[in-house]
Amino acid sequence: MPEAKYVCSDDILCGVNLPKDAKNLADLEKKHILVIDAPSNAKKDEVFEVNIKVGGTDGVEHPNEAGHFIEWLELYCGDTFLGRAGFCGGTSYGVARFKVKLSHAHGPLKAWARCNLHGLWEGTKEIAIS
Ligand SMILES: [Fe+2]
Repeated sequence: MPEAKYVCSDDILCGVNLPKDAKNLADLEKKHILVIDAPSNAKKDEVFEVNIKVGGTDGVEHPNEAGHFIEWLELYCGDTFLGRAGFCGGTSYGVARFKVKLSHAHGPLKAWARCNLHGLWEGTKEIAIS
């Protein structure tokens, strides 16, 4: 698990948040962790699915109400943008399915999600294209 990317340790809205210790998650982290479900290996130029969910680790779900919700999530492969989904507090949830076709990868699948109160969170999943 990579190191936390807090730019300011006392400002959750500054920089990109990652769990500080993957084996000992705080409730705030369980609520915001990005779960990426995708194959570890995909065939070159063949479509595969990437399912992303924000929160839910150990049953600790992220709230979805007008005052606290996931605004959007984005999917990248390395730093190559693949897609974006937007949500409305109280009506749509921080869950998305992308259909992706890659000829190569410059890094892992990477997802960013933004909570309106707790800032930007990152999750990654290694993938090989062959
Ligand atoms: Fe939040």
